[in-house]
Amino acid sequence: MPPSPGLQGENRDQWILDRHSSIFTTGVIPAKRHRTAWVNGVEGTDRGPFRRPYVGILGCGEVKNLMKILCLGGSFTGRYLASHFADSCRVEFASRAPRSLQDRGFLVTQGATSEPPDLILDTVPAIHDDGTLRDHPYKTLLTTHLAAHPTTSTIHLSSTSVYASDFVSATESEIPFLDETAPTRPDSDRGRLRLELESLFLSIAPAASIIRCAGIYGPGRCLALRFQRGDFRKTDQGNRVVSRIHVHDLCRLILTLGLRSLELDEEERPRLVHAVDEDPAPRAEVYSYLEELLGIQIPGDWRTDRPRGRQIRSLFAKGLLGGRYRFPSYLEGFPDCIGGGSRVESLKSKS
Ligand SMILES: NC(=O)c1ccc[n+]([C@@H]2O[C@H](COP(=O)([O-])OP(=O)(O)OC[C@H]3O[C@@H](n4cnc5c(N)ncnc54)[C@H](OP(=O)(O)O)[C@@H]3O)[C@@H](O)[C@H]2O)c1
Repeated sequence: MPPSPGLQGENRDQWILDRHSSIFTTGVIPAKRHRTAWVNGVEGTDRGPFRRPYVGILGCGEVKNLMKILCLGGSFTGRYLASHFADSCRVEFASRAPRSLQDRGFLVTQGATSEPPDLILDTVPAIHDDGTLRDHPYKTLLTTHLAAHPTTSTIHLSSTSVYASDFVSATESEIPFLDETAPTRPDSDRGRLRLELESLFLSIAPAASIIRCAGIYGPGRCLALRFQRGDFRKTDQGNRVVSRIHVHDLCRLILTLGLRSLELDEEERPRLVHAVDEDPAPRAEVYSYLEELLGIQIPGDWRTDRPRGRQIRSLFAKGLLGGRYRFPSYLEGFPDCIGGGSRVESLKSKS
């Protein structure tokens, strides 16, 4: 008899996978030598009867079949996913610069000879000519693939710039909160193009999920590192309230949503998710913290300016992350980036 779902078996060779569990966050992942697991009471091994790629459970999951991901664009996020979640997924890239990725140890798609992916992750930004959106650079690849494998999960990474940001207030608490139900109202060309790109992507992959990302940061790409290098560009833009997401939590969201898309009916999974942490913060707060942390003086008018912008929230992100962010705010995330160096830049540096 298998033990109850969600619990670890007495024998460390036996682990329970609950199909609604979140991707693991911390803890020891048992080595792949553990062969047996149950999913909703059904016993399986590495070969089956699992039909889907089960990725693991909170702290103690067995990695079954790795989720195969085709990442469009050799992005910061895709590279982090490939290098930090190798126990959960196998990422191949479609890229304009395949050699450069291969030289850093990343896999590049071999086209028709590659295994069909479980998930296609689109990380390509809006490409435009003088403000007119160009067609998606991977449209042919997407169309061909989805015609042959219509059940493939698709996720498009978009941006919170599709929302208005022109709110100004005397205090931070009066700055509006916007969740996934908020109407879009881009007030920049960037935001408008993003919205057009979402529509374009959905016209190619109608079942896709959209993740609207706030500022993505992580090892090798972080405000704290920029300031450490003495780069103070853009500090003259006042006391903006900024929403962020650490790339680690963004990747966890991508994996969970990818898995849900494979498992659940369309109505049961969110089609639009904001990738944001729990603490949108005004620059005055963040910069003061960084001055203290790094022992630096940050120029600009942020000390005296009124809070402006908006605070992006998510109705779904925390639930998809199993109730826990690895980096709930910049207070946990920035120190990780300063300590984390540039691990994301190369897979090879891991070995
Ligand atoms: N960084 C942020 O703070 C932030 C915030 C909100 C939303 N986003 C969006 O979220 C997505 C992921 O972000 P990221 O920072 O991980 O991405 P990123 O590092 O900026 O990478 C995007 C990738 O898209 C590909 N690309 C760019 N221009 C292209 C073109 N003209 N034709 C074909 N491919 C092109 C490039 O890959 P190759 O060079 O390999 O071809 C590039 O590495 C992006 O769409 C980004 O714009 C980012």
